[in-house]
Amino acid sequence: MSVDPTNSLTVRDNRTGAEYDIPITDGTIRAADLGQIKLPGDLSGLATYDPGFTNTASCRSSVTYIDGDNGVLEYRGYPIEQLAEQSTFLEVAYLLIHGALPTEAEYKNWEHHITFHTYVHENVKSFMQGFRYDAHPMGMLMASVGALSTFYPESVNIHDADNRNIQIIRMIAKMPTLGAWAFRHAQGKPYVYPDNNLSYTANFLSMLFKMSETRYHPDERIVRALDTLLILHADHEQNASTNAVRSVGSTQVDPYSAVASGVGALFGPLHGGANEAVLRMLKRIGSVENIPAFIEGVKAGNERLMGFGHRVYKNYDPRAKLIKKACDDVFEVTGVNPLLKIAQELEKIALNDEYFVKRRLYPNVDFYSGLIYEALQFPPEMFTVLFAIGRTPGWLAQWLELTTDKDQKIARPKQIYTGARGQLYVPQSQRWA
Ligand SMILES: CC(C)(COP(=O)(O)OP(=O)(O)OC[C@H]1O[C@@H](n2cnc3c(N)ncnc32)[C@H](O)[C@@H]1OP(=O)(O)O)[C@@H](O)C(=O)NCCC(=O)NCCS
Repeated sequence: MSVDPTNSLTVRDNRTGAEYDIPITDGTIRAADLGQIKLPGDLSGLATYDPGFTNTASCRSSVTYIDGDNGVLEYRGYPIEQLAEQSTFLEVAYLLIHGALPTEAEYKNWEHHITFHTYVHENVKSFMQGFRYDAHPMGMLMASVGALSTFYPESVNIHDADNRNIQIIRMIAKMPTLGAWAFRHAQGKPYVYPDNNLSYTANFLSMLFKMSETRYHPDERIVRALDTLLILHADHEQNASTNAVRSVGSTQVDPYSAVASGVGALFGPLHGGANEAVLRMLKRIGSVENIPAFIEGVKAGNERLMGFGHRVYKNYDPRAKLIKKACDDVFEVTGVNPLLKIAQELEKIALNDEYFVKRRLYPNVDFYSGLIYEALQFPPEMFTVLFAIGRTPGWLAQWLELTTDKDQKIARPKQIYTGARGQLYVPQSQRWA
């Protein structure tokens, strides 16, 4: 195939003097094209070394667009600000999965199906009740969503579009049930069954907080704020947990197992756990007077200002702006979290301090979300569960894209082997004699 000279890369291998023209497509070269760069006798050719995939595109995707320099986040081309302010989490889930906003009939049908599938098999309940009293809710969520594959063994037919669709509906419907039951378990309270007369988010709140009342009626402002938070977490292109879902999904396993791996990746403190660290930091600072000394410590490199900085956003994280707004709505109902004053003052000082300005460090999604979750009476272990429920449609949209992408193969990276070769095995009877 001839290579377009105006849109290609010419590479000269100084080991051999040979030159290669490699096509550039969408600002990338295919790593496999480097395989032709070989030494005589070399079979596999040149490869790239990229731990953590910091400069490697692993897929083509039309789900989420991020422009980190300008603080832009779009789902299927719709700016996050418009979705957070005007849409609902269920509609955003539809958008992510189906690629377009629903008509009225499509939305009603979607809402009906999701609502209809919120219940789980009774054996899931007894299975969850078997966890230790102090089990981390993320461990319970990961295990129970993975266990759903045993209740729906047909879910392994991932090449059947109707089958994929019903598993997607089931998972979006059941994640709040599993998450809420993990929460109730830790509190020693009875699990609450779904109330199908409530909206998706109101039902979630009911399963979390209902006690002896006949019907739980959450405050609409809280429902709206939590719905907004779920929208803000719904997708974030190829982050660590999405990469885990795609990587496990590339083996053609069922979607419950793939999403369980996403929950596992999200559990890690470098991914889903930062908002908890922000809360701990704010509590430790304790009062506004202590902020200057704290900032000096950060600038001296003693610690980081948690909730600031991002691998992709080198501008204000658009989600942080929207969460800040949601804070006002929640605090109107719950009363102001006293840590808010410290957070606002920290932000003001950091945004005007040369250290943070020069490094383009701005508040990220985690800076304010922990304050809201705490005001809503969630213990820190539940913060990541809320994130996982919000992220489920994103994981599934990316999984769906993967299963229908002809370019995709089983995820199987190369390695640079650094160990010993050709060792001679000496039997135990001789080595231990
Ligand atoms: C998110 C994060 C891991 C991104 O890291 P990264 O893209 O690898 O950026 P780096 O660690 O290379 O940081 C670049 C510079 O900014 C500094 N920096 C980054 N985040 C900082 C923070 N939160 N507080 C203070 N300094 C910070 C680094 O010390 C480094 O300074 P240097 O150039 O003088 O060495 C990082 O900003 C961080 O640790 N933030 C706090 C944790 C957090 O909020 N995580 C949630 C992310 S959604």
